Amino acid sequence: MKFIGILLLAAGIQAQVLAELEAIQGITRDIPAFDEDPKSLAREKRAFLGLLDPPTLALFSTETDRTKYKFKDAVKILKDRNFDNQKKTVIYIHGFLEGLFAESVKAVVKTYIDRKDHNVIILDWHTQASPEYFLNAVQNVYKVGADLGTVLVDMIKGGLSLERLHIVGHSLGGQMSGVVGRTVQKVSGGKIILPRISALDPAYPGFYGIPGAEHLTASDGEYVDVLHTDSGFYGAPVPTGTVDFWPNGGLFPQPGCILVVNVCSHQRSWWYWNESLLKNSTNYFNSVTAKNWPDFKLGNVGEFNPDIVMGYGVLDNLNGNYYLQTNGASPFARGRTGIKYD
Ligand SMILES: *[C@@H]1O[C@H](CO)[C@@H](O)[C@H](O)[C@H]1NC(C)=O
Ligand SMILES: *[C@@H]1O[C@H](CO)[C@@H](O)[C@H](O)[C@H]1NC(C)=O
Repeated sequence: MKFIGILLLAAGIQAQVLAELEAIQGITRDIPAFDEDPKSLAREKRAFLGLLDPPTLALFSTETDRTKYKFKDAVKILKDRNFDNQKKTVIYIHGFLEGLFAESVKAVVKTYIDRKDHNVIILDWHTQASPEYFLNAVQNVYKVGADLGTVLVDMIKGGLSLERLHIVGHSLGGQMSGVVGRTVQKVSGGKIILPRISALDPAYPGFYGIPGAEHLTASDGEYVDVLHTDSGFYGAPVPTGTVDFWPNGGLFPQPGCILVVNVCSHQRSWWYWNESLLKNSTNYFNSVTAKNWPDFKLGNVGEFNPDIVMGYGVLDNLNGNYYLQTNGASPFARGRTGIKYD
């Protein structure tokens, strides 16, 4: 019954999702990557001509300075003078139609760099993440994710600290982080398991309730934490990690977003993540467990624990579903008041 429900829902939202995807494509198709000569052939034209840029791993040393490595050269990152194996390493995977030029990528790169405690690596798969959602991008999630997983095993064997490695992905990138985690386990014969995967509103269309599709699950890493902000539309309709956070019920419209612009709610996931990276914050995304959103609203919630927060600083032993409310603008986190519905 539930499965059929999801299928019907999927069919129902399909039209709206497609219409919005088209609108976004229309807006973004002419935006050049920030490292691209604006006069050069637009991305889509290049893709049409078969001039595909291969995916690269971009190691950032400042907000804008970075060195790009093709997958076949990825182990050389370990020798880069801007790479410090004593630090944590984050690999961030962007979503549909995005690239290094995306607002989400610029924001998280800056905030991670400002923390000074991470090697900041972005998977740039802008060509593979466009131009068409189902025909190109969804298929490439599996292909690029498998390639990245294979490369990661080489990097880990080459000395990359596994315990300090963290994969973070938004939307299609959230689904790809699952593919990466599964591939790492497969290629290493089960010997290597990624310690932490964080998925920011992992993509729904093409991944749930469809025969043959494989979506993110708790077994893709040791610990998989998920933020839901547009559940049932662009975002996963069901819990899909070790621990799932549902700010504002995980539903659209998120506070501060307009009802009809779904993508705003979807993107809230990386805004919240970005804010959760802030050091010395006085406000955290305090969260509390509950059976569901209506129960949270009624105050039928688990015990308050100040250490239970959504985002970067999540405890590593949580399980199940957690709820909170946020503000509609930065700062989004409400601290302790966020766990009491109003
Ligand atoms: C990302 O977080 C930083 C630090 O809190 C903040 O200064 C910046 O405005 C945020 N960016 C976006 C786009 O929200
Ligand atoms: C943040 O906290 C750390 C450790 O408590 C401190 O050393 C640092 O100066 C603080 N930074 C800011 C910007 O307040």
